[in-house]
Amino acid sequence: MKIFSNPQTIQKSIKNLKLKKQTIGFVPTMGALHQGHISLIRRAKKENDIVVVSIFVNPAQFGPKEDLKSYPKPFVKDVKLCKKEGVDIIFAPKPESMYPKNYLTYINVEKLSGTMCGKARPGHFRGVATVVTKLFNIVQPDKAYFGLKDYQQSVIIKKITEDLNYPVKIITCPTIREKSGLALSSRNAYLSKEELNKALSISDSLKKAKELIENKKIKPVKNIVLEIKKIIKPVTDKIDYIEIRDAETLVEIKDNIDRKVVIAIAAYVGKTRLIDNIVVKPR
Ligand code: PAJ
Repeated sequence: MKIFSNPQTIQKSIKNLKLKKQTIGFVPTMGALHQGHISLIRRAKKENDIVVVSIFVNPAQFGPKEDLKSYPKPFVKDVKLCKKEGVDIIFAPKPESMYPKNYLTYINVEKLSGTMCGKARPGHFRGVATVVTKLFNIVQPDKAYFGLKDYQQSVIIKKITEDLNYPVKIITCPTIREKSGLALSSRNAYLSKEELNKALSISDSLKKAKELIENKKIKPVKNIVLEIKKIIKPVTDKIDYIEIRDAETLVEIKDNIDRKVVIAIAAYVGKTRLIDNIVVKPR
């Protein structure tokens, strides 16, 4: 396994691999790897000759009051995990090599970036879109793997590749959960035992919503939102949003759930902001 930190050096190495007709599968991450990340790596491993994992806590996607400084960085452990999974290349750049002093170019996906998580985290998706575009240009993958845990992110990235004619296939992979239902997240590390228990209400409420729509045939958005609130309001400290949107376009569903939708929640447990979602198709 090779580890690169310099964008130009990895770019050259990838160019050579491409000359040898090797296919490149790419898994972008911010490190603190867990089974969610590992599931993407395993899928990439199955479908490509070479697997590249990037580990980069991207400053451009953190707001001034967010957890950039405290974000977990267990780099040695991450490297070991990647080695065990048969990753071929790790790309772990320094912030100054991705964003040198004279850096000026940002990617913004209109509309999609300003809703849901984008409302509470202004600039977040501009940072994500910019770093993913840069990483794609550096790694030049044939396929890139993203988790549905960050649903809005995956829709935005698909839009960028479509709009900018980027020759990469975006593969989205299911959310990996604890047995309890809690979606795995690097930010779960911030939660105390009691908070972990409270956090369960989020996945519980999504399961309940799915059951109400699919089995009990409840269609009105406001009824479903009410049922979710009943479960999460007593235990979470602040609800950022509960949204029901078209699963492909993220257009808001206002009245009745009449198509495949994503139900997405962002809520605080203590000081930690958690997100989760579920895709539901009324029968
Ligand atoms: P990060 O939060 O490290 O996540 C890296 C990838 O792992 C993302 O595609 C994310 O959706 C996926 N992932 C996280 N938790 C998951 C889970 N429980 N099940 C399945 N997949 C999961 O997302 C980012 O980093 C960054 O925004 C990034 C795309 C790397 C750009 O900086």
